[in-house]
Formats: sequence, C-alpha cells, structure tokens
Amino acid sequence: MSADEEKRAAGEAAAGLVEAGMSVGLGTGSTAAWFVRALAERKLDVRCVPTSQATADLATSLGLRLAELGEVSRLDLTVDGADEIGPGLALIKGGGAALLREKLVWEASARCVVIADAAKQVALLGAFPLPIEVVAFGHATTALRICDALVSCDIGVAPRLRMKDGEAVRTDNGNLIYDAACGRIEHPATLADALKSVTGVVDHGLFLDLADQALVGTPKGVLTLEP
Ligand code: 5RP
Repeated sequence: MSADEEKRAAGEAAAGLVEAGMSVGLGTGSTAAWFVRALAERKLDVRCVPTSQATADLATSLGLRLAELGEVSRLDLTVDGADEIGPGLALIKGGGAALLREKLVWEASARCVVIADAAKQVALLGAFPLPIEVVAFGHATTALRICDALVSCDIGVAPRLRMKDGEAVRTDNGNLIYDAACGRIEHPATLADALKSVTGVVDHGLFLDLADQALVGTPKGVLTLEP
C-alpha cells in the first residue's frame, strides 16, 4: 500500500464522521485533500471553513459550501493532516505553510481529527523540521531570537528560512516560515511556550492537546488512536 493510498483511506474514514448540518473545518495538504474529496462525494448539507486558499479552491471546485471562520462561532469537527504524530497525539504541522489558519480553526472546533499515512506516527517529535511562522518585518532578527529560544530548550540549531524557486515562501497571511530541524523535541510544551514568547513569531507548528483522535492509514486498515 502506498503512502497516498494510506492517506486516501484515512481521509475517507474521516469523511464518514461528518453528519448533515455540521460546520466542518477543512485542513490543508494532500491527506486533507482526500478528506475534502470524500466529503464532497457524500453531498451532505454542511458548511465548511477552509484553512488555506488551496483548500478553499479545491472545496469550491467540488461544490462544498464555504464559510468564514468568524461566521461560525464553533465548528463541530475539523479534519486535517499532520507532518508528525507523537505520543499523546502531540503533532508537528505546517509542512504546507498553513499552520496559523489551521490552529485558528482547530481551536474553534469541538472535535479535531488528524488523518495521516502510517509513516507520520513517531515515538518522539522532531525529525520533521518544526515550521515557525514569523512576520516579515525584521525577520532575520526574529530568527536570532528563535535561536535563543531553541537553545533555552537545549536545541542547538539555527532555523532556516523556507525558500521555493529562489524566493522566500509567503504564507496565506503574508508572513514567512522558518523551519527548525530540532531532531528531538523532548519537551514540546516548554518549546511551544519559548517560541510563542518571541516577538515576531506569529505561531509554530506544535499542536499540543488539540487532537481528539487520529485516523492512520496502514496496510492493515485504518487505525484509530486516542490521546
Ligand atoms: C499543512 C499541514 C499538513 O497537514 C501537513 O503538512 C501534512 O501534509 P500531507 O497531508 O500532504 O502529508 O500541516 O500546513
């Protein structure tokens, strides 16, 4: 079974959780896209809040009804992918640079389900470089402060500005992304607090105590994980 088949199986399983009348947060990335396609096929009367322009475009093309986050005070369910799923369903997200909108939508949701292929499950977070969204103004200075925050957590790496085709990647919010190749994140909550205390950091890809359930596609079927 390929990783994409595992993603598809997880996305289809998550679409089965949606009921008519729900407000649903739509994640970003290739796994979330399988969920969006499977949800659209069910032709339910639901309102969907996308976490990126790419997801909004996909959902619109499939006929799903979109709403702004502010129009929906509390979402019933959000389904989204992840870059790593660690113990307790602690996550690294933001490989697709959508972490800020994702976190805003997750935090507004009564239930959050993460969907992934089997390779995303890890014993310790940190092999996937941690995305950190920063404002563009003074970002090189902010990067130095991020370094200090990492060092305070015994992580001695310099974050790297994310580039694509020779240009710095801009998020849907106009910000930049730095990726910190931490290697091992022994204390994610401490690191999360240290990063949030840096002026210029908008948010980071550590999603802690947010996921209620994970659906992981494996060759043996879709596994359900609880925190
Ligand atoms: C986007 C994300 C994605 O959910 C994450 O990168 C996983 O992507 P994929 O499903 O394509 O493997 O956090 O910001």
